[in-house]
Amino acid sequence: MTSSASQTSASGPHDAYFNTLQQALHHAGIAWPSVVIDRARMRRNAVRLKNLVAPTARLRLVEKSLPVPALLDEAMALTGTRALMVFHEPQLRQVVQRYPDSDLLMGKPMPVLAAQHFYRHRPDSSFDPARQLQWLIDTPARLQEYLQLARGQDIKLRVNIEIDVGLHRGGVADPSALRALLDQLRKAPGHLEFSGLMGYDAHVGKLPSLLESRDVGFAKAASMYRAFQAIARAEFPELAPTLCWNGAGSPTVALHRQDSPLNDVSAGSALLKPLEFDIQPLAEFEPAIFVTTPVLKAQHGTRLPGPSWLSKLLYSGRASRARSYFIYGGGWPAEPASPAGLVLNKQFGLSFNQSILNGPHAPALAVNDSVFFRPYQSEGTLLHYGPIRVIDDGQVVDEWLPFGEI
Ligand SMILES: Cc1ncc(COP(=O)(O)O)c(C=O)c1O
Repeated sequence: MTSSASQTSASGPHDAYFNTLQQALHHAGIAWPSVVIDRARMRRNAVRLKNLVAPTARLRLVEKSLPVPALLDEAMALTGTRALMVFHEPQLRQVVQRYPDSDLLMGKPMPVLAAQHFYRHRPDSSFDPARQLQWLIDTPARLQEYLQLARGQDIKLRVNIEIDVGLHRGGVADPSALRALLDQLRKAPGHLEFSGLMGYDAHVGKLPSLLESRDVGFAKAASMYRAFQAIARAEFPELAPTLCWNGAGSPTVALHRQDSPLNDVSAGSALLKPLEFDIQPLAEFEPAIFVTTPVLKAQHGTRLPGPSWLSKLLYSGRASRARSYFIYGGGWPAEPASPAGLVLNKQFGLSFNQSILNGPHAPALAVNDSVFFRPYQSEGTLLHYGPIRVIDDGQVVDEWLPFGEI
């Protein structure tokens, strides 16, 4: 740590929490853009998540939101689940290899060529797709493609049907569409096996409450899950002994604690609580993922290229533009989080190399101080910015690599 860094961290533009993170990074000599996970917070969130799941349901961790093997290891152990939801064929192969005892449900309908690729290139592992993997199907055409794949390879595919419970992102939207798919399935018993229904209700609670409250949105989604399940149960009893009724997601997993139609609930992001998950049902969860980078240049005022009157017109007298900071890197899908009062400067333009932030006179950052951002989501952030620095008890204790594009 340089003497100027130790002075600035001692005087403290950050609160105690971010000051500790900054010191851990400086101590480890990390002075370039990095993604940070606070392990203690993540672990507490995992326990919170586990406690949110009703005894009648199984938690299915959303792998795409935690696409880091060491992170998934911890998350699965702490929440006591081997069930994962997977969204990407290269990650599917890596998951199968790492967790041969896992139970996998695809979170989106995969192109049949991707499914075919999985069977042609799946790793040598005791994982048995005919028992442990459910493919997601949304239309009769896709089901037909999967049937041809199963016949061609002489294998059995387990098929879960995507239902639309109000998000309107596809999936069957009415009883006749579900019946048509179930009929098709019934006619291909050797090669296709119906394994359940999957809905996603992330729209619940997102509308302005005057338009639709969270409670009303949830009740509507729950009744749609139930209506689709009732059709499968009543009209196709021979298909429905041990089905997977999946749904939820971090925004609604807490709502599914009571009186839920689901026996299988998905959630992932809640463990790290990126910015988009600052919502009332997750109020007790703690943000555990940040992007951090050092300040390279700290200046008074804000000056755009070109005539100086333009900068005066735009910025003079504006407290939030009293200082400018050029930072190492930028362009992340994230918002400044610490120190308080930092804003992106859209007029200066986007840079992935040295981007500009503005801030007030106080708290002021100095060169070499760290800036912390909160990413909007964990999925992209964890995949694209190199090894993840794991901080615990004021120290960088580990570096975790995400799944690769293999
Ligand atoms: C089908 C499905 N279920 C659940 C989730 C929830 O994931 P998370 O808890 O990470 O928001 C997602 C997220 O995209 C999803 O697409």
